[in-house]
Amino acid sequence: MKSSGGSEAMKRRAGESAAEAVTDGDVVGLGTGSTAAHAIRALGERVTDGLSITGVATSFASRELALDAGIPLVDLAAVTSPGAGGIDVAVDGADCVAGGDLIKGGGAAHAREKLVDAAADRFLVVADATKCTDVLTHPVPIEVLASGRGVVAEAVAAAGGDATLRRAERKDGPVVTDNGHLVLDCDFGPIAEPAALARTLAETPGVVEHGLFVGLADELHVGTETGVNVTNPGRG
Ligand code: A5P
Repeated sequence: MKSSGGSEAMKRRAGESAAEAVTDGDVVGLGTGSTAAHAIRALGERVTDGLSITGVATSFASRELALDAGIPLVDLAAVTSPGAGGIDVAVDGADCVAGGDLIKGGGAAHAREKLVDAAADRFLVVADATKCTDVLTHPVPIEVLASGRGVVAEAVAAAGGDATLRRAERKDGPVVTDNGHLVLDCDFGPIAEPAALARTLAETPGVVEHGLFVGLADELHVGTETGVNVTNPGRG
């Protein structure tokens, strides 16, 4: 699993704090990445101790981890079909956090993450303190149809960004997402108006999903060197 940001101890504190906020009977969205992995493992321990939950995975990786941890899983389509109960709470990481706005997709899982996180009644973000900034500055991952990557890169340039095709590390060629698409990492510098940029990207043909999560977070669980800060930015 790729890992970035602060220490494992900071990530673990954040993950464990969010896992404690899950209650018996919850349907839980399980995020992707090294910080969400701590939450999944902590939830697995609570399941071993008797907690009854059902997980909804956001990626191949989070599904594997959840099965390993003993968390029963259900498909997103099943819990969001008419008459089903939906998702009570989602726990997911972020690459950059500015209040309730996030950049996600460092693990190329942001399309399913956005579906699950947005569908949840409560979305708890888990991050270490190094991810928190005043203004979003991290490059924005954009999942694109392979044939549309040139068109999307032009649209990104027109919006003031610079797109780079994400390359695989232990395979020749590009990263291919769980959905069979490519990822452009798009550097816009500091993003003064994330909502406007999110709309522009969402309207661009060829874009499957972008990694700007604007106003979606209900709670931030931020791990520090000494503890956890929990705040409520409020869903926008
Ligand atoms: C997965 O695609 C991402 O959205 C992750 O949630 C994000 O990259 C944070 O990952 P870490 O917790 O590993 O930094």
